[in-house]
Order: sequence, then structure tokens, then C-alpha cells
Amino acid sequence: MADSGILESRNLTLSLLSENDFNIIFPLMNRPEILDTMVLHYPLDREEWYDIFKNNPEKAAQGKEFGFMITLKKNKKIAGMCDLLDVNEKREKAELGYWISPEFRKQGIAFDACKLLIEYGFSHVGLHKIWAETFSTNTPSQGLLEKLGFRKVGILEKEVFKHGMWRDRVLYELLNPES
Ligand SMILES: CC(C)(COP(=O)(O)OP(=O)(O)OC[C@H]1O[C@@H](n2cnc3c(N)ncnc32)[C@H](O)[C@@H]1OP(=O)(O)O)[C@@H](O)C(=O)NCCC(=O)NCCS
Repeated sequence: MADSGILESRNLTLSLLSENDFNIIFPLMNRPEILDTMVLHYPLDREEWYDIFKNNPEKAAQGKEFGFMITLKKNKKIAGMCDLLDVNEKREKAELGYWISPEFRKQGIAFDACKLLIEYGFSHVGLHKIWAETFSTNTPSQGLLEKLGFRKVGILEKEVFKHGMWRDRVLYELLNPES
């Protein structure tokens, strides 16, 4: 990239999410297939999501958070999103987040996109560690993290109350090989 806000692989473009992208991303993300995998305790409405997204370019410029929209090069379709969240003040650590629309899954898109973003996080942001957390029932997400080389740290028991029950989370981490 990096200051253009664009990351590219052979098949994908990752573009830093701008306010204008909100109308595209909101209906794609606001579906149970995506929301059920998130920690959110209740569905957010349009305005609440807008509040989260609207400052993305500023947060990226400040090095606090980097949200990218994933576009397929072959047909320009939006496949999903990936982000580095909660970058700490010393820019040592950040959380990895991602989702792919159901119609584009199982084609290697999340793997490709996350690889690009991790490389960006280590080489451009200068992170020492990237971590991720997922519900213990989310097999695809755990498979993805393991394929990306993340180490399973352990289970956080009954960590999040969602859909009327306490649910376990699995914690993963990946160290910058240069650290
Ligand atoms: C998790 C998710 C992002 C994977 O996206 P994807 O583009 O389908 O993943 P990829 O095709 O790149 O697959 C990469 C690896 O993930 C694992 N994986 C993906 N889908 C899987 C599934 N349905 N079952 C088991 N493992 C799966 C596999 O290890 C796969 O490698 P392989 O193809 O060599 O077997 C997608 O299922 C999704 O958006 N889920 C809902 C949102 C979500 O769970 N976000 C994370 C919240 S913590």
C-alpha cells in the first residue's frame, strides 16, 4: 500500500473503508449469518453502525483501527470485510476481525485477505502481535486462524452471554516473525 489505502493480491483488492462505503457494507453485514458470529449482544440499527464506521479513515490515519472492504478483482463484487481493531497506544497489539458474505465463502478469500492484512499490520503498522477471538462453535473461523498460522492460546469459558446463554470463546495469537 500503503498511504493510498489500498492493499492488493492477485485476486483481491482491500480498500480502506470510507464513509461512502457504508451503504454497501451495511446491508451485507446486517445479516444473521454474520451477526451471530459477533460478540454484539443485540443487532445494531443503521445509525449505530454508521457511528462505528464513519470515523474509519481518521482512526486509520491515527493508527487506532484499520477497516478494509474486500473486493474481487475479477468482477468488482464486494465479498466482505477485514479489520485490525483496538490497536493499543504503543502499536504493539491489535485484534483481527473478518467476515465474508455466504455466497463467496470457501474460495480462499478470507485467507487471502487476512494474509494481506496481517502482513500490513506487521510491516506497516509495526505490530508485535495480532490476536483473535472466536466462539468455540465457530469451526470455520478457527480453521481459518489455524491455516493463517495463529496459535490457539486457550478457551475463555463462558465469556460472552449471547442468545440466552453463556458461550465459550477461543483465543488465538500470532507473533510478528521479526519481533
Ligand atoms: C470464517 C470465514 C471468514 C471464512 O471465510 P472463507 O472465505 O470461507 O474462508 P477460506 O475459504 O479462506 O478458508 C480458509 C480456511 O478456513 C477454514 N474453513 C473455512 N470454512 C470452513 C468451514 N465451513 N468448515 C471448516 N473450516 C473452514 C479452512 O481451514 C480453510 O482452509 P481450506 O480451504 O484449505 O480447508 C467465513 O466463514 C465467515 O465469514 N464466517 C462468518 C463471520 C465470522 O465467523 N467471522 C469471525 C468472527 S470471530
